[in-house]
Amino acid sequence: MALKLSEKGQHEVTRILARYPEEQSAMMPLLHLIQEDKGFISITDQLELAKLLRVPPMKVRGVVEFYTMFRGEKCGKYLIQVCHTLSCAILGAHTVVDVIRQKLGIDIGGTTKDGMFTLMKVECLGSCGTAPVMQINDDYYENLTEEKIIEILDSLK
Ligand code: FES
Repeated sequence: MALKLSEKGQHEVTRILARYPEEQSAMMPLLHLIQEDKGFISITDQLELAKLLRVPPMKVRGVVEFYTMFRGEKCGKYLIQVCHTLSCAILGAHTVVDVIRQKLGIDIGGTTKDGMFTLMKVECLGSCGTAPVMQINDDYYENLTEEKIIEILDSLK
């Protein structure tokens, strides 16, 4: 079995690999590509990527687990990551989580029945000056208030 991506994804794999003299240097862009193509990076894809890059599978697994931007499991179309580190905690991360929980009817780690939203708590998103902060897929939402959160979630439906 090989890494199975869409036709466009397969072309992109070849293009990315050609940019790096050492295969393993292509790990980060290829992980982004897999996630973009499939929505998450399954264990099977992690194993196939390890073979392709000629690295131990645990090396790929370690990278996927270390970076919160990578998803190792299937989740909703929108992955909501709420920072709960110090600045955000002081400025209301708990309220942010509660508002989302109530609005979407899911708990931390849960996905809505329609497959639209998954809620996660994460460590510092690097935007402490604009706390409280959440990230939805690749976008940051800062200085959150209850009204702002509701507005953001409604705009994504
Ligand atoms: S503490 Fe939340 S972004 Fe840094």
